[in-house]
Amino acid sequence: MTSNNQIGKRWIRPLPERLINKIAAGEVIERPAAVLKELLENSLDAGATRIDIAVEKSGLKSITVVDDGCGIDADQIEIAFSRHATSKIRDFNDLEELMSFGFRGEALPSIGSVSKTRMISRTADSDDGRELIIEGGVLQSVKAVAAPIGTKIEVMDLFYNTPARRKFLKTETTEARHLTRTATAMALSVPGVRFSYSLNGRRLFLLGKNADLMQARVAELLFGKENTPLLEVKYDSDKLNISGYLSFPDSCRRNRNGLYMYINRRYIFSPTLFHAITAGYGELLARGHFPAGALFLDIDPKRVDVNVHPTKAEVRLVEERQIHDLLYQVIKKSLRGSLGLPSASTAVEIRSAEENYTAAEAIRRLKNFMPDKDINNAPDMMDKLYGNQKTDSSNQAPESINQESEDTIKYINVAADDTVETKSGSETIRYLGQLSRLYLIFISGDELLVIDQHTAHERVLYEENLKAIELGKSISQNLLFPINIELTPERFAVYEEASEILTSAGIISQPFGATTVMLTAVSASLTKKSPEKIFEEILSDVENLHNGGEELTKAVAQSIACRAAIMSGDVITAEEAIGLYRRLKTVDNKHCCPHGRPVTLKLTKDELDKKFGRK
Ligand SMILES: Nc1ncnc2c1ncn2[C@@H]1O[C@H](COP(=O)(O)OP(=O)(O)OP(=O)(O)O)[C@@H](O)[C@H]1O
Ligand SMILES: [Mg+2]
Repeated sequence: MTSNNQIGKRWIRPLPERLINKIAAGEVIERPAAVLKELLENSLDAGATRIDIAVEKSGLKSITVVDDGCGIDADQIEIAFSRHATSKIRDFNDLEELMSFGFRGEALPSIGSVSKTRMISRTADSDDGRELIIEGGVLQSVKAVAAPIGTKIEVMDLFYNTPARRKFLKTETTEARHLTRTATAMALSVPGVRFSYSLNGRRLFLLGKNADLMQARVAELLFGKENTPLLEVKYDSDKLNISGYLSFPDSCRRNRNGLYMYINRRYIFSPTLFHAITAGYGELLARGHFPAGALFLDIDPKRVDVNVHPTKAEVRLVEERQIHDLLYQVIKKSLRGSLGLPSASTAVEIRSAEENYTAAEAIRRLKNFMPDKDINNAPDMMDKLYGNQKTDSSNQAPESINQESEDTIKYINVAADDTVETKSGSETIRYLGQLSRLYLIFISGDELLVIDQHTAHERVLYEENLKAIELGKSISQNLLFPINIELTPERFAVYEEASEILTSAGIISQPFGATTVMLTAVSASLTKKSPEKIFEEILSDVENLHNGGEELTKAVAQSIACRAAIMSGDVITAEEAIGLYRRLKTVDNKHCCPHGRPVTLKLTKDELDKKFGRK
């Protein structure tokens, strides 16, 4: 019999401090850029006005930071490398009002335990400095040396004693990119500090002291020219101040990397705030472009929790949603103000035969029903379609819409009851109306067509989705506010499997914690319902379809089509019905929906004749 007895008595012992530091280093120091960040934060906390950075071999050979800050007292330098020793907070209340970068007393012992580090520091009160050498967490020597006031720290052979971590690092180019981002982020936030940065023997920047000229620093560092025109953002209130400089729409970038965000001068990563800024640009931002610049939020430290993540890159905001909304408004107003555009959105209430629309809703619905090639004309079409109705209640049809397009739809006759006739090519169809809020009745030549609005729309959307997914051309609609959705572990597994396809289908999300997903955009056709609900329904459909043997791409396309399609019971207008008919003409299989239900029923003159006993 095997039992625990055979293992013998197991002692619970405290770990040696060296080992604790090494374990902590695994969290705090995940890559060379993290070392640089910790060192720069220490220099800024020490009140440096000048910081010089030199990095060799993308941080694996050495990372050196020299500052002219307050220095460390001779008798304190050893303590600085012991765990949880900090000069920055004394008790919990200090943590609540934190204004310094450091507070854990963890960075130096962590760095010291996974590298060979040499620090030389001197305070203004002392005539000479101290040099400390520590290797793999073992103190090698402390001695007096001649030194200028300030601190110089050299971190060499990073991860030399943790081969697993060293192996885990990405290529040198990737590490170099992270290092440069860290140096840039810091330099942007403190224009009052002279900064130089060399990487692998090349000086990447040398920035003079420019305390009042944040704009110049942002322009120089991010756009390469000190006089690049930038949008100034400024907003002050008792709760929150926002300031910074962002690119105008014409100098926005094709990637997200140009935007640096800070809370209380701490560089942070926040998808929520990123979203708010991008949303503030709204339609002024070209597709696939993102703003660049630096934006600073100053919030009462009590409302920010920085102690969330070991690298402090994530913060928790007490009123994240309000801050998101406010930031969105501020960006929108600043941008539109400086471009001379009206900032209030002019949502016009338009009454149609059956229901009330706002202008935006009308555009959305039109987009949902129109052939792709007409989508860009939607606002235009909307004006033409509904424009008359705004001022003229006689409900007369506009003469024509979109005359340039090759097969023009012509409104030949619009009766008060919404009966419309269209000509497309040689086919003339007349839309008679909707039966039981489900069947759309058309006359084409001498045939009577009955179309099931749900299955027809579903078929059209399914084929369009499939094509869009394959071509990566799905249209998605950003949510005004990203939503975190908690999934069960099983659902999360489905999500992970399908997430790439979902993204190509316009449902944009990213994992955010163990089984949580942050949803930032949904397919444009899905904006009618609650995004959370839609997302979960789609995952559930995809799981069922996939388990039933359906290919993932088809399962996603099918589920979105089904969820986005108009339902039985939905009232649709004549324009929408005709749009749907035209789209149905373009699909490969117009006879049945993806589940196999019929789409169209035809009654020919012959058949009618028979029924009426004429033949
Ligand atoms: N460049 C520097 N100039 C002056 N003092 C420094 C410098 N670097 C570190 N120190 C001193 O060493 C102490 C320990 O630094 P360390 O980075 O380990 O902890 P911290 O900054 O207090 O907290 P955190 O772990 O959150 O960074 C600091 O509290 C500070 O007193
Ligand atoms: Mg520190």
